[in-house]
Amino acid sequence: MRRRKLIIGNWKMNPASLAEARALFGKVKRAAEKLERIETVLCPPFPYLGAFAHSGTARFFLGAQDVFWENSRRATGEVPPEMLADLGVSHVIVGHSERRALGETNEVVAKKTLAALKEGLRAIACVGEKERDSDGRFYAALKNQLAQSLSCVPRRYFLDLAIAYEPLFAIGKSAREAMTPRDICEISIFIRKALTDMYGAETALLPPILYGGSVEAANASAILKEGRVDGLLIGHASLVPEEITTILKNADEL
Ligand code: PGA
Repeated sequence: MRRRKLIIGNWKMNPASLAEARALFGKVKRAAEKLERIETVLCPPFPYLGAFAHSGTARFFLGAQDVFWENSRRATGEVPPEMLADLGVSHVIVGHSERRALGETNEVVAKKTLAALKEGLRAIACVGEKERDSDGRFYAALKNQLAQSLSCVPRRYFLDLAIAYEPLFAIGKSAREAMTPRDICEISIFIRKALTDMYGAETALLPPILYGGSVEAANASAILKEGRVDGLLIGHASLVPEEITTILKNADEL
């Protein structure tokens, strides 16, 4: 299926001030809006989202890094999907490995994914193995993680779902240490096949499959092309205007 590449910038806990966030956001947004063939999403930390409320345009979107699974009014410190939607947030990352490392289970990821989708947000559900074993047991573990992270999500929501594959061992390094496009291609096919086994071919084709982990301007185009993924989830490189705008422009030309 031919679709616009989806490029997502995950700012994590950066930058340190709203002034810096505004400057970075403005630069990336201006570059992204000129590009016809890709969709760009920036996911600033929660405290900055209000400053960028309703800044989404035809191909540029505001995203969040997490969401709570219900609007319970009694969950101190959490942010419900309704509040995000009210600010014009259209995308949300769910189940990032850094949240899973803080104790987020597959069950929680599934509940958050469903809550986001029900609210009309597009959910980017993250999966990825911690390490690889030479016997290939990580494949079954990955399939299991995928199945459980989507366990309560009905097929009718799959059009608004994206799967981000992020192997933990490849996060936060440089392009040279990232996964190779060839290995990424293999996993992208594996995930599509796993989705087909679980949901049937028609539904399995709906979610874009993204790769994340040490994507920089130096390897982004090769990953998109040879890695056969539908987009990228970018951490540290999304904080450097020259890096991220180069990635976006190159992706637009593919
Ligand atoms: P990285 O982060 O691009 O800095 O490796 C990716 C992520 O954690 O989403």
